[in-house]
Amino acid sequence: MATSKKQPLVQFKGIMKQYGKVTAVEKMDFDIEEGSLVTLLGPSGCGKTTLLRMVAGLEDPTEGDIYIKGVRINDTPIHKRNLGMIFQNYALFPHKTIFDNVAFGLKYRNVSKDQIREKVMQALEMVRLPGVENRMPSQLSGGQQQRIAMARAIVIEPDVLLMDEPLSALDENLREEMRREVDNLQQMLGVTTIFVTHDQREALSMSDKILVMKAGRKQQEGDPQTVYNQPVNHFVADFLGHSNFIKGQIVDVNKEHVHVQIETGDLLIADNKNTFNLGDRVELVVRAQRFDLVDEDEITTKQEMNSFAGRIKDRSYMGGEVSYFIELGTGREIHIISMMRTRIYSIGEKVRVQVAPHHCHLLAIES
Ligand SMILES: Nc1ncnc2c1ncn2[C@@H]1O[C@H](COP(=O)(O)OP(=O)(O)O)[C@@H](O)[C@H]1O
Ligand SMILES: [Mg+2]
Repeated sequence: MATSKKQPLVQFKGIMKQYGKVTAVEKMDFDIEEGSLVTLLGPSGCGKTTLLRMVAGLEDPTEGDIYIKGVRINDTPIHKRNLGMIFQNYALFPHKTIFDNVAFGLKYRNVSKDQIREKVMQALEMVRLPGVENRMPSQLSGGQQQRIAMARAIVIEPDVLLMDEPLSALDENLREEMRREVDNLQQMLGVTTIFVTHDQREALSMSDKILVMKAGRKQQEGDPQTVYNQPVNHFVADFLGHSNFIKGQIVDVNKEHVHVQIETGDLLIADNKNTFNLGDRVELVVRAQRFDLVDEDEITTKQEMNSFAGRIKDRSYMGGEVSYFIELGTGREIHIISMMRTRIYSIGEKVRVQVAPHHCHLLAIES
């Protein structure tokens, strides 16, 4: 017999939360593997915090169950759920020393004074801030305070670490540094982590698995590359990355490819993933970085393939790359981020826009 799949550490089964008439989370099923970092990703108001608060025990589900290590925890009081929590406004106790801040969660457990000291020192070591235990929070920078918040969360050796937009209060550079810090710490400890963010870069760079949410509903779950490269619908394709959407109809299908007549009348060939049939109306998704620009007057037969005509409407030079807005014959604009493999094009210039079949992702048109 095949070995049975390992039981997920956290399981949501038909979980739902309503506030009066507002449904914050629609019936949702979702599993989180032990030791993994999972991100809940979606725009503001899509229900991420609500989902996290239900795990924490700060909200009761209206329907459905939550399991940790196979045990239903709906009715387990907050302090009996062994969870570490870090929130956006890291909220250290301002009048307590760093030591007391980190030790806080241990005081209500059966841990001796010596053990507390040892664990606190270890936690400070792990967030790479040894020696700050006698300082007050106000004597540390924002990034350092956030690390103390991490130390406080991990010192109790939680079953699950819950992080709600913990980096959003930090400035861009620090955020990137802290993103790596969280990622490393999580891997070092192997602690199962649920990380909430509306920042796709954060989600893509850190996660083992991403759960994309919209209006309380799960849109897609998968590893970062799957969610990015094979978005299941327009929302996911639009939310992650710079996507272009071009409408068309399937006019030919063979084993390897489908041929799509796009709105300009041109034919684009896409890889056949066995999802669509002749005559289907589709939306073609192409990332801004995946288009190539070819000089209109230097075109060869090869370059004519999988391409259409356009005119440079706008461009911005960004150092390593150039961002172009290109107007098609139909008046629609597409966005291209060119890594400058060729020259830089001027506004008004006619070009051909080309894309490889495996960079054309097809979606059903949503009604
Ligand atoms: N305590 C509450 N009372 C009423 N509505 C709430 C409450 N908390 C959240 N909501 C609503 O639930 C939805 C989801 O909110 P939230 O989980 O905070 O989203 P996110 O964290 O993704 O921004 C929103 O429409 C929000 O207004
Ligand atoms: Mg939130």
